[in-house]
Amino acid sequence: MKLSGGSARVNALMAQMSLGEKLGQISMLADGLVETGPPGPHNPFNMIVDGRVGSLLNVWGAHLVREAQRRAVEESRLGVPLFFGLDVVHGHKSIHPVPIAEAGSFDRQLWEATARDSAIEAMADGVHMTFAPMIDVARDARWGRIVETAGEDPLVNAEFGRARVRGYQARDEKGIMRLAACAKHFCAYGAVVSGRDYAEADVSWRGLEEIYLPPFRACVDEGVAAIMPAFIDVAGMAMTGHKRLLRDMLRARWRFDGLIVSDYNAIAELINHGVAADAPEAAALALNAGVDIDMMSDAYFNGLPIALERGLVSMDEIDMAVRRVLNFKEQIGLFDDPYRNMAPSASKEEIPKTLAPERRALSRQAAQRSIVLLKNEGALLPLKAPRSLAVLGPLADAPNDQLGPWASAGDGQDAVTILAGLRETYAQADVRFAKGAPFEGRDEDELEAARKALAGADAIILCIGESRMMSGEALSRTKPEIPAGQLELARMALESGAPVVLAINSGRPLVLPDWLVEGAHAILAAWHAGTEAGPALAAILSGACNPSARLAITWPRTTGQMPLFYGLRPSGRPHDPQNTWTTGYYDCPFDPCWSFGQGLSYTRFARANLRVDRDALDLDDLVSVSVDVTNIGTCEGVETIFLFSRDPVAQVTRPMLELRDFTKVALRQGETRTVVFVVKVRDLCYLDEDRKPRLDDGAIQFHVGASARREDLERIDVVIAQG
Ligand code: GLC
Repeated sequence: MKLSGGSARVNALMAQMSLGEKLGQISMLADGLVETGPPGPHNPFNMIVDGRVGSLLNVWGAHLVREAQRRAVEESRLGVPLFFGLDVVHGHKSIHPVPIAEAGSFDRQLWEATARDSAIEAMADGVHMTFAPMIDVARDARWGRIVETAGEDPLVNAEFGRARVRGYQARDEKGIMRLAACAKHFCAYGAVVSGRDYAEADVSWRGLEEIYLPPFRACVDEGVAAIMPAFIDVAGMAMTGHKRLLRDMLRARWRFDGLIVSDYNAIAELINHGVAADAPEAAALALNAGVDIDMMSDAYFNGLPIALERGLVSMDEIDMAVRRVLNFKEQIGLFDDPYRNMAPSASKEEIPKTLAPERRALSRQAAQRSIVLLKNEGALLPLKAPRSLAVLGPLADAPNDQLGPWASAGDGQDAVTILAGLRETYAQADVRFAKGAPFEGRDEDELEAARKALAGADAIILCIGESRMMSGEALSRTKPEIPAGQLELARMALESGAPVVLAINSGRPLVLPDWLVEGAHAILAAWHAGTEAGPALAAILSGACNPSARLAITWPRTTGQMPLFYGLRPSGRPHDPQNTWTTGYYDCPFDPCWSFGQGLSYTRFARANLRVDRDALDLDDLVSVSVDVTNIGTCEGVETIFLFSRDPVAQVTRPMLELRDFTKVALRQGETRTVVFVVKVRDLCYLDEDRKPRLDDGAIQFHVGASARREDLERIDVVIAQG
């Protein structure tokens, strides 16, 4: 989106604006239908007429949005329309699986489709901008916001971000983007020390260039309308005032000409960071770094006049930010149609109470493609026709919690729970339910009820994990585990002797005790799978849907392993279980519980005939890496194939695996398909010590397979021979 320059209308408007009206345009205030940060001192609805605010967040619904817009357009001096922002992160009314789950579908088309549907629902509620996609590469499950990310891999976050931008910003019949996307949080927020939210992140320049920046570069290349800097400091530089990364790189080198919207109160918090003595200094630091909009901190409105007097900022800098905001409003059609999607007839009573069937169907499809089957001992699943099922756990009948955090306008009343989904799917069976334990703590009566419910059951469906309030912002956990009361229920279920299907409902990988991983017959990462979590899980358990999701995040055995991810560098003493003097732990196996990319199907696949179309390559060549995939099982299924590379000898140490591409292939029983990856050799370059792209002559390894686990990969080498 290009916002510099400006039309005659914008220029004429700016010429009439007072300083206060200009500062109002670059101020965004919340009016809390939902609370996403510390509440502010003001009531923004009463500040609109004075031109004190240019955009609102956390307001939706045509009747509310229309009233706010009416005040701006019909009662303020210049009638400049507002725009409205909201965190539409994984659905608006029909809620999709949390991003860390949907990322595991490894399905670019699905990621775009769910974003497009979210935009249609949010736009109908008067929302113009979503504060999404959140593409912070995350590798530490202690960090509560891991739930919002597309997991540990830069390429997956980049592709997820691209698809989201395409989906959100798809244009309507008038050619206007439905929902402006705001990629966040720029950058390296997922690298906070100890997984503690809002903490510092010490990341090397190489880590920034190779891990944390690529997803944002991808979104800028895809035309994202806005970027939100992270709350944190990276190597001592507070991101909200990071001139080198925001102005010199994002704007100048990447030529990003969209809006930079601060995070909630983040400009004022530059004072807490200790890089500004007061609001004027904080406002100057952010404005001079290129931040256009001050979300919730008042630093711009109250601090910039003083900063002007002190000579800390220029009027030109202020005008540049105001112009970008006005150009944005013009480009999304607000000057021509400020009441777009706020039809006066759309009163609260008339807004459809039920979700559109096609939205609900997509939500179910997304959930089916995001739930990961991790264990299926003795092919217990699918459960074809049990006579009786005991459905236990606090997540079995939890319509609000299954929506997960950041559920926008999602309403638990629209949700179909796991219990309801199972009862519908197994209508002929005796389906008993007991919560068995609260989310945290224990309850003897609940436990006793569960003991009765499981008696004589053919199988137990154990739904345990996290409430929606146990992951998300400001919800880091030092023990990302299943709470003790729920484990007590799990132990009771295992001791009953009935086969146990463990469905982990969470916003992050949870550390599981060995006895539970070994004792459960089947294990699924069911995540917080959204409005249709119930029918989706039931379809998988019954075999109506063959699971195809994979893990977009490594699943650790213990918290002590975190941060844990597949793309490790080799170390001078690479792990060798037979050799003490190698990297690893005295008290824990080196490998994770489950690896990036792992996930089972009800069928089986085999790979053969891994090949390249040329084995001596120059920098500007393309190379095709192909493998034949066969469905050797007993039913149709979808396999996910990953292409990794490794540069075994380079000027700097390189990760043992780097994801270069991924794809899915649907195969009928017995069918074989050739999967072909086309790689630009130049993309295999790394940055040398002088930050210059480099590729050395010699071997490059390609590893192709079903996950990052060694046993799931085959290798083929090519030779780089630059002429
Ligand atoms: C929050 C989050 C950010 C969100 C914003 C508005 O504090 O950090 O992700 O978009 O405030 O709700």
